Amino acid sequence: MSQPLPPARPHLKFTADGRRVREVLSYARRGSRFTPSQQEAWDAHHEKWVIPDEAVDVPGFSLASWFGREAPVIVEIGSGVGEATAGLAALRPECDVLAFEVWRPGVAHTLGLVADAGAENVRLIGVDAVWALEHLFSPGSVEELWTFFPDPWPKQRHHKRRLVSREFGALAASRLRPGGRWRLATDWSEYAAHMQAALDAEPGLEGGPAERWADRPMTRFERKGIAAGRSITDLTYRAVG
Ligand SMILES: C[S@@+](CC[C@H](N)C(=O)[O-])C[C@H]1O[C@@H](n2cnc3c(N)ncnc32)[C@H](O)[C@@H]1O
Repeated sequence: MSQPLPPARPHLKFTADGRRVREVLSYARRGSRFTPSQQEAWDAHHEKWVIPDEAVDVPGFSLASWFGREAPVIVEIGSGVGEATAGLAALRPECDVLAFEVWRPGVAHTLGLVADAGAENVRLIGVDAVWALEHLFSPGSVEELWTFFPDPWPKQRHHKRRLVSREFGALAASRLRPGGRWRLATDWSEYAAHMQAALDAEPGLEGGPAERWADRPMTRFERKGIAAGRSITDLTYRAVG
């Protein structure tokens, strides 16, 4: 049976008279130039480990076929240069890790770290993770969700761009399997309070501030936060099914 097409991804939505629909997204477009080592990693690994954006537009898109097996799926949103992705995936060989990152040089960098870590269970994709979580995942199908140092969007007028909101909390709660964990970390205390308020209000989640997750590798944005004198907050929620 053929499956219906999901709605158009962000950047591909147009009005009836052909104008691009402006959407509120949790990321800003950044440069796309690779360093020589990123280029090398991209050339060596992208065919096997990067899912092309257009693949999700094809009816019947199957994540399992990109991993080559059926296994519990962990989703990371905003993997950056991949320090957490590579380190944690190597610790969880029984799971598949799907990392969402719209910044291509970060994806290329991650490929190199994943190869160095000897992990075979990571795939990367550059489409908007919010759209993807809603349209590519069925309820209860995500084993674990990781959002480490999401962009804080500190200006009041940009708060609507923050990834973690009440609305996104409801979506995440619905996609996690009952008992599945959502692990978050931020170096922005005001965003931490905002996350906590939003997620505490979601009946499908329970949890709150937690000890630093011992397995969580230090990332570029955690280092930046610490260097700037900010304190780090880890939060862990569990989906109550
Ligand atoms: C501040 S960086 C943190 C990166 C990394 N987790 C770290 O700790 O170093 C946030 C990243 O999330 C990515 N991002 C934000 N919203 C996203 C979305 N909706 N889908 C995919 N990637 C997203 C951005 O491109 C950016 O690289």
